[in-house]
Amino acid sequence: MTLLNPTRRLLLQGVSAAALVAVAALGVARAKATGKAVDSIEDLISKMSIEEKAGQLSLFSDPTRFQGAIINPTSEQAATKDRVYADIAAGRITGLFNGIGVAGAREMQKIAVEQSPHGIPLVFAGDVIHGLKTTFPIPLAEAASFDTDLAFRTARAAAVEATAVGLHWTFAPMVDVARDQRWGRNAEGAGEDTFLGSQFAVARVNGFQGSSLKDDTSLLACPKHFAAYGAVQGGMDYNTADIPETTLRQTHLPPFQAAFDAGALSTMSAFNDVAGVPSTGNHYLLTDILRGEWGFKGLVVSDYTSEEELVAHGFAADGADATAKAINAGCDVAMQSGLYNAYLPDLVRNGTVSMATVDEAVRRVLRVKQALGLFDNPYRSLELDREKTDIRTAETLALAREAGRKSIVLLKNEGGLLPLSKSARIALIGPCIDDKYDYPGPWAVFPDIATCVTMAEGFQAAMGADGTLTMAKGSHYESLYDGGIDEAVRAAEASDVVVLVIGESAGMSGEAQSRVDISIPEAQLTLAEAVAATGKPVVVLLRHGRALALTGAANTAPAILATWFLGSETGHSVADIVFGDYAPQGRLPVSFPQASGQEPYYYNHRATGRPQRTADREYKARYREVTNEALYPFGHGLTYGDISYGATMVDAAKLKWNGTVGVSATVSNKGRRAAHEVVQLYIHDRVASLTQPVRALTGFRHIDLAPGETQTVTFTLRRSDLEFMTAKLRFAAEPGLFDIWIAPSAVGGIPASVELIA
Ligand code: NOJ
Repeated sequence: MTLLNPTRRLLLQGVSAAALVAVAALGVARAKATGKAVDSIEDLISKMSIEEKAGQLSLFSDPTRFQGAIINPTSEQAATKDRVYADIAAGRITGLFNGIGVAGAREMQKIAVEQSPHGIPLVFAGDVIHGLKTTFPIPLAEAASFDTDLAFRTARAAAVEATAVGLHWTFAPMVDVARDQRWGRNAEGAGEDTFLGSQFAVARVNGFQGSSLKDDTSLLACPKHFAAYGAVQGGMDYNTADIPETTLRQTHLPPFQAAFDAGALSTMSAFNDVAGVPSTGNHYLLTDILRGEWGFKGLVVSDYTSEEELVAHGFAADGADATAKAINAGCDVAMQSGLYNAYLPDLVRNGTVSMATVDEAVRRVLRVKQALGLFDNPYRSLELDREKTDIRTAETLALAREAGRKSIVLLKNEGGLLPLSKSARIALIGPCIDDKYDYPGPWAVFPDIATCVTMAEGFQAAMGADGTLTMAKGSHYESLYDGGIDEAVRAAEASDVVVLVIGESAGMSGEAQSRVDISIPEAQLTLAEAVAATGKPVVVLLRHGRALALTGAANTAPAILATWFLGSETGHSVADIVFGDYAPQGRLPVSFPQASGQEPYYYNHRATGRPQRTADREYKARYREVTNEALYPFGHGLTYGDISYGATMVDAAKLKWNGTVGVSATVSNKGRRAAHEVVQLYIHDRVASLTQPVRALTGFRHIDLAPGETQTVTFTLRRSDLEFMTAKLRFAAEPGLFDIWIAPSAVGGIPASVELIA
C-alpha cells in the first residue's frame, strides 16, 4: 500500500488537473468533517445535467474485456469499444460489469475522470459468485459445511482475486431461500433454510466487503435477488412468486435484512413478481420495506434488463412507462437495458418522474462510489502488479481444497465401505472424471479451467504408486455412446471397488436451468445399473447443483457422497475424504426427496391437519407412491465415527418472557475414528395464531469427537428464538409450549419441551 497523499497519487496516475478539481472537492470536504462529504455530493448533483444523471444510473456489460462464460442473453445493447469509450466520455455510463483486466479498466477510468463532464469515476462490477480464477465450491455446497467462518474466508479470498483484476463490486451473495429443487439457481444460494441462509449471508457480505469498503481488496456486496426469487412457482426460473406476505417476511426477507445489517450497500431487484407486482417496479419492496422499515442506505440495481421486462410482465406499457415505474418504485440503476438513458430526461421534463426522485437515486450511487473510496482514488483496485501476484496463490488454493472437503456430505456408508484404502484396486468411472470444463461448476464466469483438479487427477495424486486406478468414462451425461458401458464394466470387474461419479453436468444447474425431473439422467442410471451388476461394491460420488431424487443403483449403492461442484481443487478435496485423510463434516442444506414429484419439498413445512405420523396412509398428507418423508433430510450427514445423541434436556420447564433456558444433550462417538459433528437445535411452536413449521433450525454447533469421547452441547434459548411473523406483520412470540430437539438432522433427536410464559 502506498502512503502518498491521495491528490499526489492521482497526479502520478495521470489524472488531469480538471478532473482533480471535482475529486479534490470531495476530498477536502471530507477532511474538514465527515458530514461535509455529503455536501460535496450535493454540489455535484446540483451541477449535473439530467442526461449525466441518467448516465450515473445506467450500468452496462463490458464488451471490451469480456473473457468469461456467457451468462446472460446477448443483447442489442452489446456495444463496440469505440461506442463504450464515447459513452464514458459523455457521462452516459456509471460503470461496467463482467469484464476483467486492469489495463483496460485503467484506460476507461482515465476517460471517465478526465473527459466526462464532472469526472465521476466508473465502478467495475462482476458476477463473482464462488471465486474468480480460483473457484471455490458453489455456494450451495459451501452451505453444506455449515461453517460460516469458511464462507467468510472464501468470500474474502474471492474479493482479493476480484479486486486484483480490477473489480469493485460483486453481484453476490445470492441470498434467496429456495425450497424447490427444480429451480436451477439453488446452486447459487445457501439452501432451503432461512436461519442458515441468514448466517451465510452475513458471513459472505463480511468476507466480500472486508473491514472497510475503501480497502484495495474490498468488494462491494450485492445480496440478491430482492425479493422472493427463490419462491418462483413450480421451480421455473423467472416465474411468479405467489406467496403471502407472512411467508415473504418470515422465510424470504430475513437473509436480506441480515445482509444489510452487516453493511451490504447494494442489492439487485429480482426478475419475478411478488403477488402480482414485479420486483423491479415494486415500491412496497424497494422503498417501503427496504428503505422505510430497514433504513437501507445503499443502491438498488435492476437485474439484467428487468426494468425493461416490466413491459413483458404486462405491468408497464412501453419503455418510457417501465422506466418511470422502476425509478419511482426505488430501482436506482438500470442494468443493461439503456432505458434510463433513453427515457429519464424526457420523463423528468414532462413531470412523470420528479427531479427529486432522480437526484435521490444519483445520490445513492455517488455515496456508494464514495464509500468505495473511488473519489479519493479512482484507480483503487486497478494496480497492474496485484493482477499478477494475487491470483491463485498457494494459500488461496489450499483454502479451495479445504472448502471443498468441508462441503462434502456423507449420505450413506453401509458396512463402513468408506474410507477406501489407497492401495486398493479402484475403478473410477463417470462422464466427467477427467473433463476439466465441468469442474469450475455453474456460475463461474472467469475460472482458470486448465488448472482445475479433476477427480482423475485427485485420485491419482492421493494413491500414488500404492494402488491401481483404472478409469472409464462409461457414458456422457445425458446419452450413451458405443462401447462406453462395456469399458466401464471391464474396469469394474478388474477392481476391488468402484467409485462411480454421476449426476448433473455443470450446465444443468444455474440460471434458466430449471428441471421437471431432478433425478440422475437416464444414460447414467443405465451405467450405474451395469456397474452394480458386476457385484463390486460401489461408492457413488454425486455431482449436482441441487438436491437430487436418487433412484435405482444410484440409490442402492452402499456408499454415497454428495460432492456438488467443488471448484478448482475438486479432485484433491474428494480424495481427502474418500481415503479418510480428513473426517467428513458436511450436512445437507437442502432435503433430498424420494421423488421429484414431492417438490417443493422442505423440512420446515407447516403442519397440516392430517400429518402422516405413522406408516398409515389412509387420508393422510402424502402421495400414493411415497411417504411424506425425505430420502435424506435437511441437516443429514454421516461421519466416519459412530455418533449417538442423548435426550434433549432443559434446565427449566418454563421460559420467562425476558429470561433464558439452557438446552443440552450429550453427543457420543462410539466408533473407532475421529468425527466432526454438526449439532443442530430445532424448535416447534405447538400452538400459534398462524400454523408454524413442524421444525425450524434455531442454532448449530461444530464439535470434534475423538473415538470413545462424549461431549455435552448446550444452547441458550431466548424468546427471540421462538418468534414468528404474525398476521400483524411483526415478529413476535406467543406464550405456550414449544418442542425442542438437539439432533443430528431435521429428523431424529429425542425432544424436550419448554413453556414460554408471559
Ligand atoms: C442475471 C442474473 O439473474 C444475475 O444474478 C446476474 O448478476 C446478472 N444477470 C448479471 O450478470
